[in-house]
Amino acid sequence: MTPQNTAHTANADPASRATDPTASTEPVLSVRNLTVTFPSEAGSVHAVRGVDFDLMPGRTLAIVGESGSGKSVTSLAVMGLLPDYAKVEGSVVYAGTELIGKSDKEMSKIRGKDIAMIFQDPLSSLTPVFSIGDQLIEAIQTHRDVSKKEAEKEAVRLLELVGIPEADKRVKSFPHEFSGGMRQRVVIAIAMANNPRVIIADEPTTALDVTIQAQILEVLKVAQRETGAAVIMITHDMGVVAGTADDVLVMYAGRPVELGDVDTIFNNPKMPYTVGLLGSTPRVDKATDEPLTPIVGTPPQLIDVAAECPFADRCPVVKDECRTLEPELRALDDVPGHFASCLRSDEIKDGTIGGERMYPLPKISADTLGDTPYEQRPVTLEVKNLVKDFPLIKGAILKRRVGTVHAVKNVSFDVHQGECFAIVGESGSG
Ligand SMILES: Nc1ncnc2c1ncn2[C@@H]1O[C@H](COP(=O)(O)OP(=O)(O)OP(=O)(O)O)[C@@H](O)[C@H]1O
Ligand SMILES: [Mg+2]
Repeated sequence: MTPQNTAHTANADPASRATDPTASTEPVLSVRNLTVTFPSEAGSVHAVRGVDFDLMPGRTLAIVGESGSGKSVTSLAVMGLLPDYAKVEGSVVYAGTELIGKSDKEMSKIRGKDIAMIFQDPLSSLTPVFSIGDQLIEAIQTHRDVSKKEAEKEAVRLLELVGIPEADKRVKSFPHEFSGGMRQRVVIAIAMANNPRVIIADEPTTALDVTIQAQILEVLKVAQRETGAAVIMITHDMGVVAGTADDVLVMYAGRPVELGDVDTIFNNPKMPYTVGLLGSTPRVDKATDEPLTPIVGTPPQLIDVAAECPFADRCPVVKDECRTLEPELRALDDVPGHFASCLRSDEIKDGTIGGERMYPLPKISADTLGDTPYEQRPVTLEVKNLVKDFPLIKGAILKRRVGTVHAVKNVSFDVHQGECFAIVGESGSG
C-alpha cells in the first residue's frame, strides 16, 4: 500500500494533513471526537467515546469489534438516525459540510443520495406491501428528477447489476417472494440507486449462509465499482475484513483501539485486543494447527467508565500502569497510518511480547482421552446409510403424490468419544 492511498495519514490531526505532501485527496467523510451518550436508569451509557477516522474516496474501511463496542451507534450517528434522546457530540464532516446538528429534514436530503446504508436484516429495510420495483423507483425519484418510466428502466438495470435473474420480470415481485440473499441484493441496489459517495454496510452478510455471504460481498464490490463510493464495512467477522477492507478500525468499549491498513492489522497488530480477536478467528492465510485462543471475560459496562485501559481486566499482558489512565490512540512508528492505544504497543511484535505468545493455548482436558489415539476411542454415535425423503403432494382435497424430495440420501458417519464432528453445507443441502 502506498502512503498516497491510505485511508488516513500518519498524523491524526486534520490540520496537519493540509500540509502533508502525501495526502493527495481529501477524505469524503471525516469523523472527529464523535461521542454518543444514552440516558438510562442506571446512569448515562457512554456508547461511543471519541471516535476519529477519515474515509478516503473509493476505499473500504472495516470497523470491527465485539458486540456492544459501538460500531452501529457510530454509523447511526453519521447517518443522523439515532433517537432524539441520544446525545451526539463531536464532528462528522461530509464533503466539507458538518452533519452533526443538522435537522432530520436536512439529513434526509443527504441520506440515500450521498450516504447510503445497508443493514443486517434486509427484511427490515424493505416494505412488505410494495413491490421491489416500486421501492427502487421511489429511491430513485426521491433524489432525482426523472420520469416514472426512466426510473423503472433504471430499477431493472440496477437489479441486473446486483445479479437478480430475469430482472425485468422479478421487478414486480414482493420482498416475501425473494430469498434472504436476493433481498440483500435488492437492498444493495437501492443503496446504489443514487450513486452515493459513501456506503455504510452494517453486518450486511451476518444473516446469510457462507456461500451467499461471498456472493453478497461480490455484489458490494460491484456497487463500489459502479458508484466509486467509499465503503464503511461494519462486521465482527475477520474473514469478511480480510476479503474486503483496505483499512481497519478496531473498536473496544466505544473507542477506537487500533487503526491501520489491513495488512498491518493482520500481520503486525499492536494492541492486545486485536491480537486476541485474530487469535480467536480461524486464519486461512497462515498454515497452523494451533488451537484458537479465546479472549476471556466480557467488555466493561459503559456507565461510569473507569479511568484505566478498558481492556485491562481481560488483557493477558496488563501492567500496573495500565490501571492508572486510559491510553490515547497514538501514532506508531512501524508503518505510517498505524495507530494503537496500548502502553505496550512497542513491545508487541507479530502478536507476541518478547517472543512469547500473549494468549495461553486453551488446555485440552488431559483425562482418559489424553493419550488414546483417535481410532481406539469408543464410537459414541454411528450413522449408517441414513435416508430421509419427503413426499411432494399436489391438490387440496384429493391429495396425490407427485414426486419425492430426497432431503438426505445415504449418509454415513461415526463420531468417536471426545471428537468434535462438523457438518457443513449450503442452505438446503440437508
Ligand atoms: N437506542 C439506544 N438506547 C440506549 N442504549 C443504546 C441504544 N443503542 C445502542 N445502545 C448501547 O450502545 C452500546 C453500543 O451499541 P452498538 O449497537 O453500537 O454495538 P455494536 O458494536 O454495533 O454491537 P453488535 O456487534 O452487537 O451489533 C451498547 O452498550 C448498547 O446497549
Ligand atoms: Mg451493531
